[in-house]
Amino acid sequence: MQGIKPYINNHKDRFLNEIIELLKIPSISADSAYKKDVLLTAEFVSESLKKAGCDNVEICKTEGYPIIYADKIIDTNLPTVLVYGHYDVQPPDPLNLWDSPPFEPVIKKTDLHPEGAIFARGSCDDKGQFYMHVKAIEFLISTNQLPCNVKFMIEGEEEVGSTSLAGFVKNNQDKLANDVILISDTGMIAKDVPSITTGLRGLSYVEVEVTGPNRDLHSGLYGGAVANPINVLTKMIASLHDENNHITIPGFYDKVEELSTEERAEMAKAPFSLEDYKKALDIEAVYGEKSYTTNERNSIRPTLDVNGIWGGYTGEGAKTVIASKAYAKISMRLVPDQDWLEITDLFKTHFKNIAPKGVTVKVTPHHGGQAYVTPIDSIGYKAASKAYEDTFGKTPIPQRSGGSIPIVALFEKELKSKTILMGFGLDSDAIHSPNEHFGLFNYYKGIETIPLFYKYFTELKMK
Ligand code: BES
Ligand code: MN
Ligand code: MN
Repeated sequence: MQGIKPYINNHKDRFLNEIIELLKIPSISADSAYKKDVLLTAEFVSESLKKAGCDNVEICKTEGYPIIYADKIIDTNLPTVLVYGHYDVQPPDPLNLWDSPPFEPVIKKTDLHPEGAIFARGSCDDKGQFYMHVKAIEFLISTNQLPCNVKFMIEGEEEVGSTSLAGFVKNNQDKLANDVILISDTGMIAKDVPSITTGLRGLSYVEVEVTGPNRDLHSGLYGGAVANPINVLTKMIASLHDENNHITIPGFYDKVEELSTEERAEMAKAPFSLEDYKKALDIEAVYGEKSYTTNERNSIRPTLDVNGIWGGYTGEGAKTVIASKAYAKISMRLVPDQDWLEITDLFKTHFKNIAPKGVTVKVTPHHGGQAYVTPIDSIGYKAASKAYEDTFGKTPIPQRSGGSIPIVALFEKELKSKTILMGFGLDSDAIHSPNEHFGLFNYYKGIETIPLFYKYFTELKMK
């Protein structure tokens, strides 16, 4: 690949200014108050793909937020790579924990990013990462070096479960036909330790509601004589893990893929410092399922976590009250070969079964998806590996991630192609948290590495 480094160097400031403009638009898909901004972001993305030299740029309407499609087909005999990303972002709250406003991007230096990092919601997840692909294709088209066909599909509902994308993929199989899917929406082990994500966990997300008496009650007059929904809910939630931190839902582990001793030994070779891990989070000890390491607990093992819990009086001062209702939002991270719909059903049945008399329980499923794993002997993996070797001077380490991109399993089912996850974020980039950021080093390194993936994928495929 000729001249990628000088190209990046010559256009460095523009590449930065463009991503900053994109990050200024609050494309929060979960909050309907931001509908206009999400739609504005879709326009921005489609314009940026046009400017980068793509053809057939389309803002595809859906029942939810639009999906941006674009392509550059140079020769139908050459392989086709489909790039996926998302332009929506997570809500930025709690706002008071941000050092600078989430939609006013600033560049600041950190210990890990002495070159500077862009601080803004979406900088790493996923605007900064999919935009690397827009800049990579700009370079390839403008210097006449595109080695294969490329298609783009950038959606606006990833953070709320990719509801419209599933139908779009099913209905547009020809349009989206490809040899491999390429995504930058994950992380790497460290700045100097490149890695390729070979697995994603599945997800089942549910909301529960426990109802006791038909109205809020005086906690003196009625306390002790009726079921308090908050007491009951917390007790029920506590019972979902046993003393070894195994999940107690009957059947939950039935289909869990058990890794062999060799596979676990291979995993344990990845560089990891428990001391650094604890220090970064200010915790004295880690916590989790007995007989598994930290890296296993957050990647190859299924989990259950309360994401939010509320009910009763939470305002200033004290109010003596037994609330009529209590609520919680619960996520279960799943692994191969658990089925998310089956797990959702198991949860529902179990949670209703453990409810004591005196309360009623409602379980509402939100969204979910299957886990995903990809082999390391595919052409796609090898091409990615070679690309990193060129730009980092090191062979990347395959690593299963604990996060979820539920649509990836669906891509495999509907489009019959594997996904290569070339993520450039770091765990410390604080995605979904206050002060999310993305290192400039990582941003430019991504732009440098992506074109090489196209080159090696085409070479290996045409062999
Ligand atoms: N990009 C993340 C997922 C991710 C991050 C995977 C880092 C691996 C490493 C994605 O945007 C995300 O946040 N997914 C959600 C699930 C979705 C259905 C809301 C998640 O994992 O919580
Ligand atoms: Mn993401
Ligand atoms: Mn996300």
